[in-house]
Amino acid sequence: MNNNSLILALPKGRILKACIPLLEAANIIPEPAFFDADSRLLRFKTNDPGLDIIRVRSFDVATFVAFGTASLGICGSDVLMEFDYPDIYAPLNLDVGRCRLSVAQLANTKDKNLEDPARWSQIRVATKYPNITRRFFAKKGVQADIVNLHGAMELAPVLKLSNLIIDLVDTGSTLKANGLQEVETIVDVSSRLIINRTALKTQSARINALTERFRQTLPPQSIA
Ligand code: PRP
Repeated sequence: MNNNSLILALPKGRILKACIPLLEAANIIPEPAFFDADSRLLRFKTNDPGLDIIRVRSFDVATFVAFGTASLGICGSDVLMEFDYPDIYAPLNLDVGRCRLSVAQLANTKDKNLEDPARWSQIRVATKYPNITRRFFAKKGVQADIVNLHGAMELAPVLKLSNLIIDLVDTGSTLKANGLQEVETIVDVSSRLIINRTALKTQSARINALTERFRQTLPPQSIA
């Protein structure tokens, strides 16, 4: 590995799949192990000797970039909103990984109104977005009881761990399959190119060139 290489952090899972055509369009070609689902490697070389890729959890992309361990990353706007890291600059909306962050509850719950004060004493929310959740309910004047989960959120209302969840919804099929319904959309989500602000100053030529390669893959109106 070249220790001077820039590191691009990419999220595992479904956003990674959506990123592959983008990488290709930006002429960033990862080594073959990157595409091998059985490979245990986490850091990969690319066709650019000055650029490596790391593959981490979506929330960790923001953390690696905020601390400057990775100079750049691709990260959901949900994660940026949750952490609100001041050291991250997000110049491009890559317009992949589109979904929404929503509040959901059991489909057979009669009351669909979160504004109803009668519900407030019993609002317990399972989520991996504690900060967004706190802010969302604080705006309604409600102090929600938050249960931190990292996946399979939809089980929480079914098993009475919580009465609400705040999670990503794309097609809605996970909610439906688990007997849940959306109550309110908090925000629409898509993936962004993110850059560590210090790296942008110290390695501006290399980072700007890479940003430009991503920018050129997008229609002009996608620039955030
Ligand atoms: C996400 C999210 C929901 C599901 C929604 O999970 O947490 O569970 O997708 O998608 P849908 O509306 O199309 O059913 P994901 O599968 O990405 O895995 P995760 O639990 O590891 O985040």
